[in-house]
Amino acid sequence: MAQRTKVVVTRQLIDEAQRLLDTNTDLEIVQWHSSNPCDRSWLLEHAKGATGVLVMLSDKVDEELLQAAGAQLKVIASFSVGTDHVDREALKKRNIRLGYTPTCLTDAVADLTVMLILMAQRRAGESMGKVLAGEWPQMPWHPLLMTGPQISRSTVGFLGFGRIGQATLKRLLPFGISRAIYLTSKPGEPVQEDHFGIIKEAAIPIEPAKNWEQLASESDIVVVGCALTPSTKHLVSTEFFSKMKKRAVIVNIARGPIIDTNALVEALAQEKIFGAGLDVIENEPNISADHPLLKQPRCVLVPHIGSATIETREQMATESVKNLLAGLKDEAMVNEVEL
Ligand code: DGY
Repeated sequence: MAQRTKVVVTRQLIDEAQRLLDTNTDLEIVQWHSSNPCDRSWLLEHAKGATGVLVMLSDKVDEELLQAAGAQLKVIASFSVGTDHVDREALKKRNIRLGYTPTCLTDAVADLTVMLILMAQRRAGESMGKVLAGEWPQMPWHPLLMTGPQISRSTVGFLGFGRIGQATLKRLLPFGISRAIYLTSKPGEPVQEDHFGIIKEAAIPIEPAKNWEQLASESDIVVVGCALTPSTKHLVSTEFFSKMKKRAVIVNIARGPIIDTNALVEALAQEKIFGAGLDVIENEPNISADHPLLKQPRCVLVPHIGSATIETREQMATESVKNLLAGLKDEAMVNEVEL
């Protein structure tokens, strides 16, 4: 009997995606079924002999894993848009293809970005905290109770201006923002891709920033939406915060290490900025209740749920399986990273 092609999948998948995977009876499917993240030693042990591996963003794809898998490995399918957990060079030198899910989660993450902007500006975490603690009776209505900056007439600065940044801008236009600026890996240059046709058509100026200093100092709202790379790690630092407006808020929906957490704690504590809304943070998920950021009332932190709508997670799962299968068969993926 011919040996079946082995694939390793580091999660139980949502129904349709699991069915799609299971219909491939010619595959030997080795799958991590626990609801906890896949155990590293389990992955290293089971990757041996695999032709494809479907991973989550919590699974590191590095030399160690590739060596453990062996020379037959052809494809990594990542259930994510971000690929900072993958050593691209290591894949490239072995001609291993990399699938990812950059398009289907755009709406979900952009929705959450708007939510975090509003929560940070309107002090939602702080307000809800007071109500939940039974402190409303001690803070009856008065004209300045829980006041925060207003979204209309803001300048919004995008650190990274790909699909998610542009989809966020599209949602912010009806709020009456007055200007958008953005910084990409090519400072001062207009972005090539106008994903939703808004850059040309919007009635407000949308301009490339010359550098991060300009973006920090001119924005009322900073949206961090760039990829995590060696050059964006701690791009938002003490210096960055010192250039920001006192009434500005910062939102991070990309990767935690782009913001230096200590610098953020200090900026909030010293009221150098108004507030922060975070979907991601350095060292997540190991954030205990006594983390210094959680002591900052003007910081809203949610546990990396940007793409967590039922519809999006279903699509991400299905697309990841399709990418995995396409990689095994040398066919075109739904979305493939150019290595
Ligand atoms: C991703 O897929 O990279 C996102 O961080 C998920 O929210």
